[in-house]
Amino acid sequence: MGAAVARHGGPPHGTVIGFTHEDEDTTAALHPAERRLMATLPVSRRDDFRRGRAAAARCLTRLGTPGPVLADGRLPRFPDGVTGSISHRDGTAVCLAATDVRIRAVGVDIELADVLPPAAAHLLCTERERTWLEQRAGNVGDQLAALFSLKESAYKALCALGVTVRGFKEIECPVGLCGGFPITGSVTVRGVRLETGGLRSARSVLTWAVART
Ligand SMILES: CC(C)(COP(=O)(O)OP(=O)(O)OC[C@H]1O[C@@H](n2cnc3c(N)ncnc32)[C@H](O)[C@@H]1OP(=O)(O)O)[C@@H](O)C(=O)NCCC(=O)NCCS
Repeated sequence: MGAAVARHGGPPHGTVIGFTHEDEDTTAALHPAERRLMATLPVSRRDDFRRGRAAAARCLTRLGTPGPVLADGRLPRFPDGVTGSISHRDGTAVCLAATDVRIRAVGVDIELADVLPPAAAHLLCTERERTWLEQRAGNVGDQLAALFSLKESAYKALCALGVTVRGFKEIECPVGLCGGFPITGSVTVRGVRLETGGLRSARSVLTWAVART
């Protein structure tokens, strides 16, 4: 997926992105404090946690800011001076991070494409998004996954800023701005403007949201 991001022009300006995949041995990438934190988690969460922290370690190495990435509740706590976000799905983990002081928060999310039933649009989408989906020809599973993923990315960035969103419909994706994929553009939620983007790869949808100063 890293290659797919590079082909699309790379991650948002000022950020770095790191991935890990289930076939990699990521154990050694973890900081001892991350290993201790992982040991406190339910067994069912540990593989995802390890892959996510290993993806974060790749970002932190490139940023020259060593970990650990611990947690405040479920929210990842990056080292001072770093803002970042983590997502994992189906054996792949991704981290988006930045040290640029003009980046206040980031959110990243990865979802399997084409798994949401069309009926989920009623739960997730605003009226404008549903109208946009209805105008798409053929299977809208990818677009629905993209809308859902972008809302999750935006939610994560907003959480990092202490902004609480009450429901998926409070975040309206930039469906008016592009013909193809409804995730590139900007979204404003509760006064916070988020630059948004992402891409579709073989089986997944990757999205991000970036709040700049
Ligand atoms: C928190 C949430 C976004 C996680 O998404 P997910 O698809 O279940 O899981 P992902 O793999 O994409 O992300 C998990 C990672 O997100 C991070 N995370 C968890 N809660 C977070 C939060 N509130 N804010 C930012 N990041 C968070 C963590 O790093 C976590 O990984 P870790 O536990 O290994 O550290 C999701 O469970 C959720 O609550 N969504 C919001 C639902 C909602 O109310 N939506 C309405 C507005 S969109």
